[in-house]
Amino acid sequence: MITFKDVSLVYPNGTQGLKNINVEINEGEFVVIVGLSGAGKSTFIRSINRMVTPTNGELLVNNEDIIPKKGKDLRNLRTSIGMIFQNYNLVNRSSVIKNTISGRLGHTGTLRSIFNLYPKEDKKLAYDNPETCSYGRKSL
Ligand SMILES: Nc1ncnc2c1ncn2[C@@H]1O[C@H](COP(=O)(O)OP(=O)(O)OP(=O)(O)O)[C@@H](O)[C@H]1O
Ligand SMILES: [Mg+2]
Repeated sequence: MITFKDVSLVYPNGTQGLKNINVEINEGEFVVIVGLSGAGKSTFIRSINRMVTPTNGELLVNNEDIIPKKGKDLRNLRTSIGMIFQNYNLVNRSSVIKNTISGRLGHTGTLRSIFNLYPKEDKKLAYDNPETCSYGRKSL
């Protein structure tokens, strides 16, 4: 489902964020990335929804290399991947469930999201996903 093939990323200032990463993650797998500060965990995860762009290699998501994506294709990729951030992007005043559901914002109309009117199916999706609980610093 997600395959890193010899992926490297050098930041514009010359810092090596990733070096020749080869990883395969299959559908349904629950993966934990562990490493020292600065090891490249965030860079690795941010590469998957192209918040950062690898400078070498192939990164396949559902058999498609996402590194060359731009414009509408890139937006579609980001909309299809939910990401919950370590802290600075978490909405502190919001519940775990709302922070989780925000991954579906790309599928929700602007007015609905402003007023927290998430579709029933999205709420169910969030509640039904066991990961929802492990991210939380607040209870449901
Ligand atoms: N925007 C950036 N520009 C330049 N260098 C960066 C940038 N972001 C990260 N780095 C560098 O890339 C390397 C990997 O950083 P990354 O943030 O991916 O590590 P991490 O494993 O997530 O660390 P932490 O456990 O502290 O969150 C580090 O050397 C870091 O200083
Ligand atoms: Mg990090």
